Amino acid sequence: MEDKRGEVTVHIAQELKKYSEDISVLYVEDDVDLRENTMKLLSRFFCAIENAPNGAEGLRRYSAGSFDIVITDIRMPEMDGVEMARRIREINPDQGIIVTSAHSEVQYLLELINIGINRFVVKPLDVERFLYALTQACKKIQNDRVIADFYRKLKQMADEETEKRRRSEQLLIQQSKLASMGEMLGAISHQWMQPLNAIALIVQDIKEVYDHDGFDEKYLGEAVISTMDCVKFMSTTVDSFRRFLKPSKDKTRFDVKEAIEDIVQMFSGVFKSHGIAVSLEAKEVNFYVHGYPNEFKQVILNIINNSKDAIESRGTNDSDFDGKITITIVNEGKKTAIYIVDNGGGIPAEIIEKIFDPYFTTKTETKGTGIGLYMSKTITENNMNGKLTVKNIEDGAEFKIEIQSCA
Ligand SMILES: Nc1ncnc2c1ncn2[C@@H]1O[C@H](COP(=O)(O)OP(=O)(O)OP(=O)(O)O)[C@@H](O)[C@H]1O
Ligand SMILES: [Mg+2]
Repeated sequence: MEDKRGEVTVHIAQELKKYSEDISVLYVEDDVDLRENTMKLLSRFFCAIENAPNGAEGLRRYSAGSFDIVITDIRMPEMDGVEMARRIREINPDQGIIVTSAHSEVQYLLELINIGINRFVVKPLDVERFLYALTQACKKIQNDRVIADFYRKLKQMADEETEKRRRSEQLLIQQSKLASMGEMLGAISHQWMQPLNAIALIVQDIKEVYDHDGFDEKYLGEAVISTMDCVKFMSTTVDSFRRFLKPSKDKTRFDVKEAIEDIVQMFSGVFKSHGIAVSLEAKEVNFYVHGYPNEFKQVILNIINNSKDAIESRGTNDSDFDGKITITIVNEGKKTAIYIVDNGGGIPAEIIEKIFDPYFTTKTETKGTGIGLYMSKTITENNMNGKLTVKNIEDGAEFKIEIQSCA
């Protein structure tokens, strides 16, 4: 019988050795002999052990160090084990605590259970039971460490992936913006046409007036003002394109209506030259949302460019046809909704499910890459927590953007 018991103890000791190596212990006991003997036993399994003769000293050491397991007696001078355990739990609610308790101390147990202590070893200490309790506590700590490590790695991986995705999205957004450089140059030249003509007229007029002796200071002043107005308008145009080309760095509060007005104004010449009327309807003065204004403008541009293409291809078969794009902004509960409606004939039912997929296009290589709507959906839904949807209406397509409004 004794042999059998000895075997079990050896087995438990071996098991404890497997788990105890890098675990630190604080042992609190006022009985000097018991403390010394137990310390000897513990040092066979643990490398980092400290001890204290009472709860107050135990708490002091606990606060100054870092311990995986606290083993404590109950009745001690200065501060008892129950009070110390309670204070330790306040510092760290997950702290592993083993309480050694004599049968005469049963009245404390309820209190200890109440503060969440669930490992007890009966005194006088039975080596086998004591080692078993330690093994259980060490196993739990090692398991928790593995799980915490796993979660840490998983979170790190997820963070890295998110960052990678964010960077590649950003790159794609920027690329697609640069891809529309051609269109932008076209838009700038449309915007410049009128002021350039005006400047040409002023300059020719100066010569004419001079030849006919009408050139005086008043005339000169007026010519300078008119020319400068044209130049200012031209430089504002270039500035707004330059601003638009820069990616918005941070989320900011911006007015959706203002952003739409900006982008529509920038490309107004292009749409006009295609005979397409773009109108904006909004009952309220401002529609504030939180997000990236330049990227939002790009979404609007992508959608109205698609409408322009649809209207154009419809117009080739019908010369009397007037292209129309109507943008309406409304408040819908806590959201700002933007409806973009065209009369380009709509999207064929068999492809409507696919139009937001990357690289899905029905256009020729030079006209489309199929990235526009994919990009727009990514910007709206991932970067601005909004929603981008589409449906066909009577005469064309209706795109709807919903974004959380802000005050
Ligand atoms: N307003 C619309 N009316 C009809 N079809 C549309 C409309 N908007 C989009 N589509 C269809 O959806 C497809 C995908 O549009 P998307 O903007 O993603 O790519 P794209 O315009 O072909 O190329 P790009 O990357 O240059 O924008 C288009 O090729 C077109 O077939
Ligand atoms: Mg497109």
